[in-house]
Amino acid sequence: MVARMALRPLLHVLQGARKTRSWAELKLLLRDRLFPATTTRANREDPLPPLLFRMATAYWISQAIYVAAKLGIADLLTDGPQSFAALAVATRSDARSLFRLLRALSSVGVLSQVGSDCFALSRLSEALRSDVPGSLRAIVITIGEIHYQACGELLHSVRTGSTAFNQVFGTSLFDYLQENADASDAFNRGMTNLSSLLAHAVLLAYDFSGISSIVDVGGGEGELLQRILELNPKVTGVVLDLPNSIGSENRALSDGGRCSYIAGNFFESVPEGADAYLLCGVVHDWDDDRAITILNNCRKGMAKSGRVLLVEMIVPDTSSASFSKLLDLNMMVMTGGRERTKAEFHTLLDAANYRVTRIIPTMAPQSVIEGMPK
Ligand SMILES: C[S@@+](CC[C@H](N)C(=O)[O-])C[C@H]1O[C@@H](n2cnc3c(N)ncnc32)[C@H](O)[C@@H]1O
Repeated sequence: MVARMALRPLLHVLQGARKTRSWAELKLLLRDRLFPATTTRANREDPLPPLLFRMATAYWISQAIYVAAKLGIADLLTDGPQSFAALAVATRSDARSLFRLLRALSSVGVLSQVGSDCFALSRLSEALRSDVPGSLRAIVITIGEIHYQACGELLHSVRTGSTAFNQVFGTSLFDYLQENADASDAFNRGMTNLSSLLAHAVLLAYDFSGISSIVDVGGGEGELLQRILELNPKVTGVVLDLPNSIGSENRALSDGGRCSYIAGNFFESVPEGADAYLLCGVVHDWDDDRAITILNNCRKGMAKSGRVLLVEMIVPDTSSASFSKLLDLNMMVMTGGRERTKAEFHTLLDAANYRVTRIIPTMAPQSVIEGMPK
C-alpha cells in the first residue's frame, strides 16, 4: 500500500514525460529497472512475463511438444523444411491451428520457422524423430498422455497421500497398462527410449566382466540388458516382466539365444540362480514395503556371491537443485513410489537383508547401487 502511494506522484511525472521526445529511452530504462530479471537486450521489444508465471504455464510447452510428437511432425521434417499447409495435409490437422502450434514451438527453439509459412527441425526436435539414436518421441508421447493426466491430480496426492493415477484412471498404472494395449505399447517404447540413453552410462560406470548371468527384473523390452550382453559376449540374461510389457520375440532372436524373456510377477518370484539381478527404474516405482518384497525375492533366487544392481537417481541430502526432486513428484502421482537419498537406499537394502557395497555415479543422472546379501 505504502509503495503504491509513493508510486502515484512518480506516475504523474511519467505521464507528463510521455509527451517528450526522450520517452522511448526513459521507457526502456524504467523497464530494465522494474523488470530486470525478465528483460534482456534480445526481448526488449517483447518482454517476458515474470518467471513464476512462466513456470506455472510450462505445461503449454509440454503439451505443445507432445502434440508435435504425436502428429509425427519431426519425422515429416527429416528431409528439410515444409510449409504448415503441407504438414496439415500430412497430419490431417486444421492448417491454421497447426501453424499456431508450430509457431509457438519455434518461439521456444523446439522447431525453427523459415520465412513466414515453413518450419524446420532444430537441434532440439531432432530427438522427436522416431528412428534416431537418442529418440525421445515415445517417452514424450506417454508423458503427454497418461503422466500429464495423473499430474493434473497432484493436489489429490498431496492432500491424501494416495496415488493420483489411481484417482484419475480408477486402477493402478501397471494394471491399467496390462488392460490397455496402446497405452502399454507407448509406455514400454518410452521406457526403451530412456534406457537406451542410460545404457551407455551404465556400461561405462559398471564392470560386468565378472558376471555370467543377469536377470533384468521388470526389464520391459530388455533394452538395457541387450546393450550389456552386446558388450559382454560371455554373459547370458533373462528379462522378467508382466505379460503385456515383456519384450518381443524378435528381440530374443536377434541376440544369438543369450537372452530370454519370461512373463511373470516379481512380487511372487523371480528366475533363480543368476549372479546379478538388475532393477533399472523399478525400485522407485514402489514404497518401501513393496520394494523390500521385490528385493527379498531377488535374494532368495540369487547364486552365492550374487548381487542386486539398482539403477536409480539419488536425491541429494542438500537443498540443491536436482531433477531427482521433480521425478519424485512424478513417482508420487504415477505409482505411489519415490526417489530416495543415499541413506534411504542403505535403510531399504538393510531391511531386505543386503548391505550396500558400492554406489557408483554414472554420466547420466542415475547411479548404480550395488547390494550383496548380508
Ligand atoms: C519404470 S519401468 C522400467 C522398465 C525397464 N527396467 C527400463 O528401465 O526401461 C518398470 C517396469 O516394471 C514392470 N513391472 C511392474 N510391475 C511388475 C510386476 N508385478 N512383475 C514384473 N514386472 C513388473 C513394468 O511392466 C515396467 O516394465
